[in-house]
Amino acid sequence: MKLNSPNRIDMKSLELVSHSPEQTQKIGVRIGELATPGDIFLLVGGLGTGKTCLTQGIAWGLNIREYALSPSFVVVRELYGRLPLYHIDLYRLDHIEEIIELGLDDYLYGGGVCVVEWAEKGLSVLPIEHLLIEISYLSDTERSFQLKPSGQRYLKIVAQLKASSLNS
Ligand SMILES: Nc1ncnc2c1ncn2[C@@H]1O[C@H](COP(=O)(O)OP(=O)(O)OP(=O)(O)O)[C@@H](O)[C@H]1O
Ligand SMILES: [Mg+2]
Repeated sequence: MKLNSPNRIDMKSLELVSHSPEQTQKIGVRIGELATPGDIFLLVGGLGTGKTCLTQGIAWGLNIREYALSPSFVVVRELYGRLPLYHIDLYRLDHIEEIIELGLDDYLYGGGVCVVEWAEKGLSVLPIEHLLIEISYLSDTERSFQLKPSGQRYLKIVAQLKASSLNS
């Protein structure tokens, strides 16, 4: 797959530029393939930047056949594949207390894979070790994905992504 040459933000981080929703899904598929139990992927970016599109790819990478639609009126959707995927969307929550009251710990510390849309709303109560994925709108069809690992587990997955064909 051709992605724009990724630029290293620093030694640990990785930037990938996607030119289409399909390329974004392919990035997600690779992340899903590399995912292991307990992984936390925190998605940050404005409205319509491609968080759900990336999550769809992650779901496919976990051999989930259902669509990873935006959870809409539920905050968490559970999808089952090679591992469970807990697709969490904090969009409608405005206060940190509301997020605490949800009791997300069973998901966050439960052996599945958690993808959190609008993670910026809950950073202070989400696990310290995670892969932060900051998505920026570049143009109608282009998005930048900045992958920023916190913790050894996520340094490893970023290294694996750097070594994968996404980089060519
Ligand atoms: N390179 C790209 N990657 C991802 N989406 C893209 C890209 N180019 C265009 N798009 C379009 O951007 C939109 C992204 O929608 P998506 O629902 O994934 O965003 P979101 O970040 O989850 O939005 P929300 O904030 O509402 O949850 C889609 O309409 C998609 O077709
Ligand atoms: Mg969404």
